[in-house]
Amino acid sequence: MTVVLEGQEELIIWRSEQVAVDRYEGCPRFAIAGADFGHSSLHVGDLFYNPGFGVPHHYHTGGAEETQIMLEGELECWVDGKRVIVGPGDAVTAPPGIGHAFQNRTDKVGRMITAFPLTPPETIHIDDPELEDATSHPAIIPADSRRGPYGDGVEGVEKVELSGDFSGAKSTYTYFVDIQPGSSMPVEKFDAETAIFVVSGQVVSIVGSKEVLATDDGAVVEPGESYGFANEGSDVARLCVVHPFLNK
Ligand SMILES: [Fe+2]
Repeated sequence: MTVVLEGQEELIIWRSEQVAVDRYEGCPRFAIAGADFGHSSLHVGDLFYNPGFGVPHHYHTGGAEETQIMLEGELECWVDGKRVIVGPGDAVTAPPGIGHAFQNRTDKVGRMITAFPLTPPETIHIDDPELEDATSHPAIIPADSRRGPYGDGVEGVEKVELSGDFSGAKSTYTYFVDIQPGSSMPVEKFDAETAIFVVSGQVVSIVGSKEVLATDDGAVVEPGESYGFANEGSDVARLCVVHPFLNK
């Protein structure tokens, strides 16, 4: 069944039409969701760290926890006074008021999705902390460690959880959806904004006007609207999904 939603095209954020903005030197960011788009709860971006650059130590106020999902490269992550190296697929939850920072000490670009369950978040910069080196932290969910079936009877689709109650999040739930060629994720609907970003491959919307979202395209689905995607390509497609509420 195909349900045509009016204005659905406007929900899609085409990367080809976007310009990155440097909030921090050497760290261009493409916006995916936020108040600038008229969104009411989600604030999401695709943030690059050029070699030698980073985001200084800071925390967020007003209940703004931040989920940081590594896509590429390797970064030095400071969270809660710990220094841990993070790489592709690792996810870091920084609760409200907890200091965090990322530095690219390598010669390759680093990249992450950053997500807040409110928009716009407020940022307070603070002095660098005393750091203790560590190989893990409860706020850091290692790559691929929470992979499981997407749901009962859904073939060819898996969910890799990134942040939620298991990472200390209070009001954010994020995960990758891996869709095999020829498979579809089920049509879903939530009472809150949902941000979707195509990490790799491409997908076709199975709700509305069969839009093709390629790698780096995004979409924000309004509360109460349905969405679902099929993989009609030949490679596995990976979506990153952000909800401004906790997993149940
Ligand atoms: Fe932050």
